[in-house]
Amino acid sequence: MPEADDKSAQDYAPQVPQKSEAFFLRGSGALDWGMKNRLARVFDPSSGRTVMLAIDHGYFQGPTSGLERVDLRIVPLLPYADSLMLTRGILRSVIPPSSPKPIVLRVSGGASILKELSAEGVAVDIEDSVRLNACAMAVQVFIGGENERDSILNMTKVVDWGNRYGLPTLAVTAVGKDMKRDARYFRLATRICAELGAQVIKTYYVEEGFETVTAACPVPIVMAGGKKIPEIEALRMAYKACQEGAAGVDMGRNIFQSEHPEAMIQAVRAVVHRNETPEKGLALYEELSNRP
Ligand code: R5P
Repeated sequence: MPEADDKSAQDYAPQVPQKSEAFFLRGSGALDWGMKNRLARVFDPSSGRTVMLAIDHGYFQGPTSGLERVDLRIVPLLPYADSLMLTRGILRSVIPPSSPKPIVLRVSGGASILKELSAEGVAVDIEDSVRLNACAMAVQVFIGGENERDSILNMTKVVDWGNRYGLPTLAVTAVGKDMKRDARYFRLATRICAELGAQVIKTYYVEEGFETVTAACPVPIVMAGGKKIPEIEALRMAYKACQEGAAGVDMGRNIFQSEHPEAMIQAVRAVVHRNETPEKGLALYEELSNRP
């Protein structure tokens, strides 16, 4: 069937080769279009990093300090976050559907602080993740924990679902109270998650050898924040993690438990996206905190 309109050969620009863009995230070049597109919403393609705001703590510990009123304390932070990690309960009940921020949906659960934390299952169906327009699904993995096998298989189930529907899986490496948090452990935990198919891994920063953790993990690592520490220390940790290979942070308490959460998240952005030093980040935090 001939084309309806007459075109000249020039319209096809036969001498101009079609551009083929390399995908910006490590280890993600062979993923499908939908998954890459979702990852490109979670991670900023211009820096290759993300400031993911983690507010999912309630799924095992109830109303955590700073998260008592997500509507009052967290919603004002949304403009400064690249992505938001949370449960479907808080998403549906509190987060405005008009928010353009990509959602990283917590899909594992089933444990509480009153019992064994590693006793989790998959607690959200893939259909609900799709219905909620999630850009990724987050699953806790307890390497060395009491329910290691179950938690790994939770993750592989979610990875299989995600591969079917184009949603990446974020594996969250959870460390038991009595376990040693060192580079050797995190190399093991992150590599297992990546080998079994997770497209992004969340792990803690360690002072010694963090660069070996990121080097040995073939997919992007985001740094977990952990307990609230002074702002300058949190900024130092985020800075060093990024300089040592992390593709950003997935931070909660060090942002929303700060005295000035809006100032803090902007300071974190400066060190993560603009490679500002922690001292410059702190100066920005102080300047913004003092603004009326
Ligand atoms: C991990 O257990 C959950 O995703 C946490 O709710 C999240 O990692 C906590 O973030 P942060 O340690 O920075 O408060």
